[in-house]
Amino acid sequence: MQVVRDKRRMQQEAARWRRLGRRIGLVPTMGALHAGHLSLVERARPGCDTLVASIFVNPLQFGPQEDFQRYPRDLARDLSLLEGAGCDWVFVPETEDMVAPDATTHVAVLALDQVLCGRSRPGHFRGVATIVTKLFHVVQPHVAVFGQKDAQQVLLLQRLARDLDFDVEIRVAPIVREADGLAMSSRNQYLGADERHDALRLVGALRRALELARAGERDSSALQAAMRAEFGSGARLRLDYAEIVDTQTLQPLPRLQDRALVAVAATVGTTRLIDNLVLEVRGEQVHEGALPDWLPGAPRRAEIPNGAGL
Ligand code: PAJ
Repeated sequence: MQVVRDKRRMQQEAARWRRLGRRIGLVPTMGALHAGHLSLVERARPGCDTLVASIFVNPLQFGPQEDFQRYPRDLARDLSLLEGAGCDWVFVPETEDMVAPDATTHVAVLALDQVLCGRSRPGHFRGVATIVTKLFHVVQPHVAVFGQKDAQQVLLLQRLARDLDFDVEIRVAPIVREADGLAMSSRNQYLGADERHDALRLVGALRRALELARAGERDSSALQAAMRAEFGSGARLRLDYAEIVDTQTLQPLPRLQDRALVAVAATVGTTRLIDNLVLEVRGEQVHEGALPDWLPGAPRRAEIPNGAGL
């Protein structure tokens, strides 16, 4: 496995692979890797000849009061995990090489960035969209893999790829969980023992929604109220949102139908956690579903309203 830090070198290598007809798979990460990240490498493999992971703690996507400084970093461990997962190249750029201090160009995916996490993390998705656009230009992937764990992020990046004509297939990997159901996250390292226990309420709320939907409940307000009740009132745990939204537009769905995204976010102590579940509704039947992959040139998805204020 090769580690490359220089952006130009990475870009030249990728251009060379493309000339040789090799198909490139990319897994962008911020490091502090866990089994969820490694599952993305696995998901990138089919149809790809060269697998690249990137490790970059992207300052553009952290708010001023967020955890950029203390975000866990352990490059040696990350590299050995990626090597074990069969990754071929790892791109580890320096901050200044990726984000020029005087950069004035940004990429924003309107409307999708205003809902769910966008409401409490202004500027976050603009930071994600900008850095992923740059990674696409540098690594020039044919396939890029993102986790459903960050459902809003993956939908927004699929929209970005479509709207800006990136010739990249965006695959979505399922959420990898701990044995007790907690969604794996680099931020789980921040949790103390009591907080770790409280954090289970996120997956508890999703399970409750699934159970009620299977029992026939279709009204989103009732499902959301039941999810909120799972959180109760605890000083250590603050619910940000528990919502049922359309899987394309992320707009609220008054009733469960076809495919719905059930998304929760809460802060445990000082750690913000998210989780979600896709529900597929077929008549009386309700199944746990998945967000679809996006292929370049695929038919346009349903239009979404323009961003507020335009
Ligand atoms: P990071 O939080 O490191 O996550 C990297 C990728 O791993 C994302 O696509 C995320 O959805 C996926 N992932 C995280 N936890 C997962 C889990 N439990 N199961 C499956 N996949 C999981 O997301 C980012 O970094 C950044 O925003 C990035 C896309 C790298 C841009 O900076």
